[in-house]
Amino acid sequence: MQPDSPEFSRQLKGFTADVESALERLTPSPQTRPAVIHEAMRHSLKAGGKRLRPLLCLAAHSLFPSRLDPLPAAVALECLHTYSLIHDDLPCMDNSDLRRGQPTCHKKFGEPVALLAGDALLTHALWLLADAYRDVPAVANALVCDLGDAASSCRLIGGQVEDILGERGEITADRLDFIHHNKTAALISASIAMGVRLADSAPQGAVESARKAGLAAGLAFQIIDDILDLTSDVATMGKPVHADEGNKKLTYPRLHGLEASRAKARELTDEAAAGIESLGGAGSFLLALIRRMEHRIS
Ligand code: IPE
Ligand code: IPE
Ligand code: MG
Ligand code: MG
Ligand code: MG
Repeated sequence: MQPDSPEFSRQLKGFTADVESALERLTPSPQTRPAVIHEAMRHSLKAGGKRLRPLLCLAAHSLFPSRLDPLPAAVALECLHTYSLIHDDLPCMDNSDLRRGQPTCHKKFGEPVALLAGDALLTHALWLLADAYRDVPAVANALVCDLGDAASSCRLIGGQVEDILGERGEITADRLDFIHHNKTAALISASIAMGVRLADSAPQGAVESARKAGLAAGLAFQIIDDILDLTSDVATMGKPVHADEGNKKLTYPRLHGLEASRAKARELTDEAAAGIESLGGAGSFLLALIRRMEHRIS
């Protein structure tokens, strides 16, 4: 399946609609007391991101026949990702006023509520996995481990910490790779791994192979994010551009230049695609999605 084919667009539309309605269904309503925290969570969740992590989870799940519903896991991934964005945008972090084309959570609700909305989305993500898959305890347990590990102080948080340290400290390729692998690639990798985990007829070893392929796709994703910060515009991105230079961020283009960064993203995308192909199963949509990630414009 080609990423520009009508078949790909049709499936993408279907999966995206499933994710949007599951997000609505599986998060507290805005009227739930105290309303302000639920409004803040929904403001950031519903502002409309690309939903890439849930889509990767659904696409990976569809590789093999399964009786398990992947939508709660897809929602958990988007909640966790959105929490990381709310905190990433805070004045003490990247200090950003715009996200997903809307005022950032702290701009609209103030810093205390934004901080707590992030905390609440993180907690909700882990609760949702434990609750939705309670009838298959081994699966629930493994999913909580997958997401808890990806979000941990060694991975997503660890990457964010080195991202901040990198604003003042040593500029090395090793630090850059640590930041990108952990702040971004770990969660993208977990999204694919969790989708395969929920495909209950997947062959043995498929989860770990999917995780490895996902790490390459995730690293490519953050390299493209760095490139778009330099080459795109606010209207297309829905968030500020040229922000990395202002924040003195350690990025791929800063260290390796634009052309080498594009080449690296291409090489990693090929590596991810080869890893997914080697899993077998009905991989064409997932492969097209991974190709599309390389050529995204926002
Ligand atoms: C932004 O992620 C943060 C990064 C890890 C680069 P996305 O580009 O997936 O943002 P949304 O979800 O579409 O808003
Ligand atoms: C964000 O990386 C990674 C996480 C939120 C974990 P960036 O700081 O590059 O993301 P953007 O560019 O603000 O979306
Ligand atoms: Mg950041
Ligand atoms: Mg940022
Ligand atoms: Mg960025």
